[in-house]
Amino acid sequence: MQHELLSRGFSRRQLGRLSTLATAGATLPFYNEFALAQEAERRMSRAAMPADAVRISSNENPLGPSVEALEAIYAVAKKGGRYGGVESNEFPKLAADLEGVKPTYVAPYAGSSDPLFRAVCAYVSPARGLVMGDPGYEAGARAAEFIGAKVSRVPLKPTFEHDVKAMLKANPTAGVYYICNPNNPSGTLTPKEDIEWLLTNKPAGSIVLLDEAYIHFANVESGSTLVAQDKDVIILRTFSKLYGMAGIRAGLAIGRPDLLDKMRNWGAGMLPITGMAAAGASLKSKTLIAERRKINADIRENTLEFLQKKGIGFVPSVSNKFMMDVKRPGMEVARALAAEKIFIGRVWPAWPNHVRVTVGTHEEMNKFKAALTKVMG
Ligand SMILES: Cc1ncc(COP(=O)(O)O)c(C=O)c1O
Repeated sequence: MQHELLSRGFSRRQLGRLSTLATAGATLPFYNEFALAQEAERRMSRAAMPADAVRISSNENPLGPSVEALEAIYAVAKKGGRYGGVESNEFPKLAADLEGVKPTYVAPYAGSSDPLFRAVCAYVSPARGLVMGDPGYEAGARAAEFIGAKVSRVPLKPTFEHDVKAMLKANPTAGVYYICNPNNPSGTLTPKEDIEWLLTNKPAGSIVLLDEAYIHFANVESGSTLVAQDKDVIILRTFSKLYGMAGIRAGLAIGRPDLLDKMRNWGAGMLPITGMAAAGASLKSKTLIAERRKINADIRENTLEFLQKKGIGFVPSVSNKFMMDVKRPGMEVARALAAEKIFIGRVWPAWPNHVRVTVGTHEEMNKFKAALTKVMG
């Protein structure tokens, strides 16, 4: 293993950092959405979030786990004395069926931060960097920088898709081309043809890492057909978003077995039986995705209509969050809203006058609207 890493361009010093990431990746304090949100809190020096605050900062789902998931958690909890159980096998099999791929093409994880870090460790190195959209979800880039790799941030197109041609040009020999679809934070889609173009034109030995954390909110086809065609693509899925299980933990990596095997070199990773059982139960529901997608879309569109009436700009999102253009440092507005007990998301350096807002419940968004009216005048 050490030999392989040295041949990938890592120095001996970097190997130490890599092993830290591999053994503790999912828990390192600055690498997941919640930790990034906490880090932003410190940057913004907002007051601590009170218990009765409206929490629309981390793209969580206020609906929580489905009834089916909760029942599965209660039922399996008594087996919690064991390290693992059949639940961790059943859940990926169910997922494979739904995605139209063989069971060996699906690996379960405790969320998708874990396989995101593993993919970075497996395919990115000082010799082969990571390319992503800007603004984009920072966790993969942070992991790549931590292990000494180059990160290329390529502006989204004016129409907010990933600019795949510019991404390839930015680093024609990268190890990972990361596409988040729909993107976090913009909530916008990149067409499948563009992803296919990247897969056809990218360098040998690299992968397209297709992060579909928010795919269920958008009524579009997943990239799993590309996996079924044995392309060099790994898809990441999480149950933290539409399925409302951020604190329960379940996720998937979907890809060709040889691509997934490389990620397994990086530590073992424990699977919580509660998370596995709840994810399996969620997948069995035939109505959950459509129901929750509609709830989210109705509340989002209602909020965006409000912004339009107020003359506040926004990026047209198909996801459970949107970026609003407040025409002044976004952090100022986030801070002012916090004083009204409304905790919205963070600001990306590429768009300093935009700030991300997660779609909450109707009641929460009504409170957000009232506070925003006060803050924006
Ligand atoms: C784009 C994206 N990928 C991955 C994750 C990781 O989520 P989790 O580790 O909760 O599955 C998040 C969390 O917000 C995300 O926004």
